[in-house]
Amino acid sequence: MSVIIELEGVRKTYRSGSLAFEALRGIDIRIDEGEYVAVIGPSGSGKSTLMNLLGCLDLPTEGRYVLADEDTSSLDEAALAAIRNRRIGFVFQQFHLLPSMTAWRNVELPLVYAGLPRHERRDRAIAALERVGLGDRVDHRPGELSGGQQQRVAVARALVTEPALLLADEPTGNLDSRSTSDVLGLFDELHASGRTIVLITHEPDVAARAGRNLVIDDGLIAVDRPTAAAGVAQ
Ligand SMILES: Nc1ncnc2c1ncn2[C@@H]1O[C@H](COP(=O)(O)OP(=O)(O)OP(=O)(O)O)[C@@H](O)[C@H]1O
Ligand SMILES: [Mg+2]
Repeated sequence: MSVIIELEGVRKTYRSGSLAFEALRGIDIRIDEGEYVAVIGPSGSGKSTLMNLLGCLDLPTEGRYVLADEDTSSLDEAALAAIRNRRIGFVFQQFHLLPSMTAWRNVELPLVYAGLPRHERRDRAIAALERVGLGDRVDHRPGELSGGQQQRVAVARALVTEPALLLADEPTGNLDSRSTSDVLGLFDELHASGRTIVLITHEPDVAARAGRNLVIDDGLIAVDRPTAAAGVAQ
């Protein structure tokens, strides 16, 4: 197994005026390609801060982050944007869909940034929507879809570039139990097909679906343990 994520001595300090707050206080993590990891911990413990660093949406104040053999600290904003587009799919608690665009238009967006021709974008967007069970909703706008369906559009958008790494911050936080189970079923399938997944959650039964749990407390990794699901889908 090759290592896809490696953090060494990562610290993140937020500054506003003369105030400084250390949200991450020295994080070391290695994640292998194909792992399914859930990050849990109390509100304010640093989970989203960690996710933003893993997703190259923000840079550590100190320490090193190597993603797929690339040391991200040496990269400028354009190179980071290219890595995000090429290697990472994001799913957030608020689905972050553009309300005026149809489902397939939302899903093709990462391919617009990647510079693919229009017919190929449409074909791939529709294939991604079929994969999440929304082949019959491609021309619906977000307002015409249920919450669970909107989140599945967001998962299709995250997948359309075939990223190696899927990052999800509370992806089921706004969903009822039926939609939660649909979305988690999708994540299980993606994991089984070799995708690396890092998911943040407050819910213990969601965390139990992953093969490994990282517990963050007060900016540090307090626990790093395999779950009962470890090995099941690998
Ligand atoms: N941009 C920012 N500027 C200043 N402080 C911040 C900023 N973002 C986060 N923080 C602080 O850093 C700490 C960690 O925040 P973070 O969002 O990572 O927590 P979290 O574990 O994701 O919490 P939750 O479960 O509520 O989403 C919090 O105390 C928060 O107030
Ligand atoms: Mg958070």
